[in-house]
Amino acid sequence: RILILDFGSQVTQLIARRVREAHVYSEIHPHDVDDAFVREFAPKGIILSGGPNSVTEDDTPRVPQVVFELGVPVLGICYGMQSMAEQLGGKVEGGHTREFGYAEIRAHGHTKLLSGIQDFETAEGYGMLKVWMSHGDKVTEIPPGFKLMASTPSCPIAGMADESRGFYAVQFHPEVTHTLQGRTILNRFVLELCGARPDWEMGHYIDEAVEHIRTQVGSEHVILGLSGGVDSSVAAALLHRAIGDQLTCVFVDHGLLRLNEAEQVMETFANHLGVKVIHIDASEAFLGKLAGVTDPEAKRKIIGAEFVEVFQTEAGKLSDARWLAQGTIYPDVIESAGKGKKGAHTIKSHHNVGGLPETLNLKLLEPLRELFKDEVRELGVALGLPPAMVYRHPFPGPGLGVRILGEVKREYADLLQRADSIFIETLRDTIDPASGKSWYELTSQAFAVFLPVRSVGVMGDGRTYEFVVALRAVQTQDFMTAHWAHLPHELLGNASNRIINEVRGINRVVYDISGKPPATIEWE
Ligand code: XMP
Repeated sequence: RILILDFGSQVTQLIARRVREAHVYSEIHPHDVDDAFVREFAPKGIILSGGPNSVTEDDTPRVPQVVFELGVPVLGICYGMQSMAEQLGGKVEGGHTREFGYAEIRAHGHTKLLSGIQDFETAEGYGMLKVWMSHGDKVTEIPPGFKLMASTPSCPIAGMADESRGFYAVQFHPEVTHTLQGRTILNRFVLELCGARPDWEMGHYIDEAVEHIRTQVGSEHVILGLSGGVDSSVAAALLHRAIGDQLTCVFVDHGLLRLNEAEQVMETFANHLGVKVIHIDASEAFLGKLAGVTDPEAKRKIIGAEFVEVFQTEAGKLSDARWLAQGTIYPDVIESAGKGKKGAHTIKSHHNVGGLPETLNLKLLEPLRELFKDEVRELGVALGLPPAMVYRHPFPGPGLGVRILGEVKREYADLLQRADSIFIETLRDTIDPASGKSWYELTSQAFAVFLPVRSVGVMGDGRTYEFVVALRAVQTQDFMTAHWAHLPHELLGNASNRIINEVRGINRVVYDISGKPPATIEWE
C-alpha cells in the first residue's frame, strides 16, 4: 500500500484517485504524522503532495525524517519536491515569477520514472512532456546524490531523482489530467518502482468504509436526508450496509419531483434494500407556500426554507439520533473551501442543507467525502443500487419548482412531469449508431420546461388553446459552461408528437438552442 502525505494541496485527493485507478490501496495522512505511524503503516512507497506554503519560510511543513529512512521509493510533487530538496541538502528559492498552467517540459529520459514516456520529440531528439505547473518557488540546486530528471527554460530543475535510494521528485503535477502522461507516470511509480500489488477494487473500499463507519458511529443512530439524487442515495446504501437499522432516512417529497420518482425511491430503498425510510409527502405545504410567488430566487428560498423546516421537524422526532449523514462528495469539499490564498488551509465541510447540523446538535457524518462523482456511481452499483438510478442526470434541489416558469401550480407540475418523462424516455430509447450509446447517455442533462403561455393549435376539427413545453438538452463537463445538444431531428420529432398527443393541455413543443453562457442550463 501507498502512503500519501498531504501538505495541503487542493488536489491531493486526485493523487489518491490515480492510485485507486491503478488498483492499489492508498491512504492520505497529514504531513505531520509521527515516525511510529509511518513505520507501522509499512508503505510500499510514499508520495508527498503539493501544498500552498513556501519551504523558504522557517515554520512551514517538512517531510518527517522517517520517510527518507524507510528504504522505500518516495515521489515528491511540487511542494513535496521542494521540501525534499531542501531537507536533503539542495536549495529552494522564491520564484521571481509564478508559473501557472501548461508547460512543455524536457524529460531527461534516463530515469526509471520517465524513461520512454513522452508526448512528442523535438528536432534534436529530446523527449517532451506536456504538463501542468502551478508554483512560485523552485529548486535551484539539486541535493547531493540526485541527478536532473526534467527541465523547462523557466524552471531548469523541474524534476530530479536519486535512483539509488528510489527518490523521485517533479515540480509539475502528474495527478491532474492536464498532464497528459500523468497517469502513466504515477502508474509506473506505484506499480513498477514501488512494486505495489494492483489488487484493490471498489469492493474493498466498501469493506474499509463500512469498518470506518462502524467505529465512528458505534451503537448510535444516524439520520440522513434522502433526496433521490445520486449522492444521498449512495450514502444511504453505504450507511445501511454498515449500520443497518441504526440508519433512518427522511425523504422529504416536495411534490416537485420527476414522474413516479417518489415511488421509485421508496421501492428501491424501503422495499428492495430494506432501509428505514420515512416518506413525508409535503407537497401540500410546499405548494401552499409557493402560491402566488413568481420570482425565481424567492421560489428557491421558499423551497429551501420549507425543506429545512420539514426535515428538522421529522429529525426532531427521532430522539435517538446523534449523527446527521450527508452525501458530500470531494468536489463539494473543494468547492466550499475558502477562497483565501492559503487554499486548503480553510477547507470546511459542505452543508447541502445549510444550518441543519448546528440547530439539531448532531455530529456530521460524510462517508463519501473522499470520492469523485464517477467513483460514487461505481460504489453505488457495487452496493446494489440500480444503474439507471446511479447514472441519472443531475436534478436540482428545488426540482420542477424552477422548471415551471413563474407561479408553481399542481396542475402545471402534473403536465410537466408527463412531458418530461416522455422526453427522457425518447432519449433513452434512441440509440446513436455512431457510438452505440443512447442519447440519454450522450447528454449531460436533459429535461422539459413548462411555459405558462398558451398558443393556438388545431386538433381534429377543433381549435386548441393550450400551454407550451420547451425541451432542453445540454452537453457539458462541469456544468459551468454547456453546449446545447445537437439531437437528431427525428428524436425531437418523436418526443414532440408523443407529448402533444399524450399530454392533454400541451399543444406546442419547442427546443432550446441556447448555450451557457449566456443562457443558464435551467430556465430559472
Ligand atoms: P444553471 O441553471 O445555473 O445550472 O446553469 C447548473 C447546474 O446546477 C443545477 N442547479 C441547481 N441545483 N439547486 C440545485 O441543487 C438549485 O437551486 C439549482 N439551480 C441550478 C442545474 O440543474 C444544473 O445541473
